[in-house]
Amino acid sequence: MSFLTIDETDAARLASLVEVGLAVKASPDEYRSALDGRSVGLFFQKQSLRTWVSCDIATFQLGAHPIVIRNDQTGLGTREAPADVGRVLGRYLDALGMRVFDHADLTEIDDATQIPLVNLLSDLEHPCQAVADMMTIAAHVPLDEATITYVGDGNNVCHSLMLAAVKLGSSIRIVAPPGYEPDADVTERARAIGDVLVTSDIGEGVTGTNVIYTDVWSSMGQEAEAELRRRHFAGYQITPELFERADEDAIFMHCLPAHRGEEVSDEMMEHGRSKVFDQAENRLHSFKAVLLDELG
Ligand code: CP
Ligand code: NVA
Repeated sequence: MSFLTIDETDAARLASLVEVGLAVKASPDEYRSALDGRSVGLFFQKQSLRTWVSCDIATFQLGAHPIVIRNDQTGLGTREAPADVGRVLGRYLDALGMRVFDHADLTEIDDATQIPLVNLLSDLEHPCQAVADMMTIAAHVPLDEATITYVGDGNNVCHSLMLAAVKLGSSIRIVAPPGYEPDADVTERARAIGDVLVTSDIGEGVTGTNVIYTDVWSSMGQEAEAELRRRHFAGYQITPELFERADEDAIFMHCLPAHRGEEVSDEMMEHGRSKVFDQAENRLHSFKAVLLDELG
């Protein structure tokens, strides 16, 4: 079964991905060669550090063969129709992960191919990130007791985090400047499941929370808006002074890459309660859980 969005993933499957991710992290040797002889494609239409490297190494450590496929060499939608790319890759691979601009390309490819397809980030969601994020939070506070605050752009990362939070019993607060709130349909679906607050008031959003999470103000593909967004997001930077308003055991999270001096200060990145590198490490373990779910 493909893994394209948290939206389409039921709570039991999501909880199992988090649980298996934590089990694999605790005992990696138990899972070595679990996927012996399999092949996993990792396709990138845009830049990556964590996803590229962690998914490649996770695949290798499970005994499967990873092959990274770069769009500048393959031309998704320019050299070849997305559905045809999917049909061809389905003849060679056991599973395929793809990072694309347009989520519609993923659904088109998923319809055209028999192999499981994993979203490695699209304009709509970043579901693998959300599994790693919930693993990171679970290490600090029980998920069904957690209040998670996301401050910044209502983007792909925000969508997956919001849906994962409510599906696993956490409360979620989204703090965004007017005009940058998460997609209305995604918010409505999250509200139908659990406790969701959307506000532009940063004080209201962070007071007493267990987690403060942020992401870049301009995502990949939005570089032309960067200057305008810097103006609109002024006042939404996470600093140690703001972090003081959260719960005393709160943690700071960021999916990375971070733009230090914009959405987060240097001091906050280096703060003792900053878990951003644990979170990045969890991308490795969580992708193993995704592959075991697909191919195990
Ligand atoms: N967090 C994340 O997906 O990082 P990359 O864009 O570097 O893969
Ligand atoms: N929202 C960011 C996340 C990068 C991991 C982007 O889409 O560029």
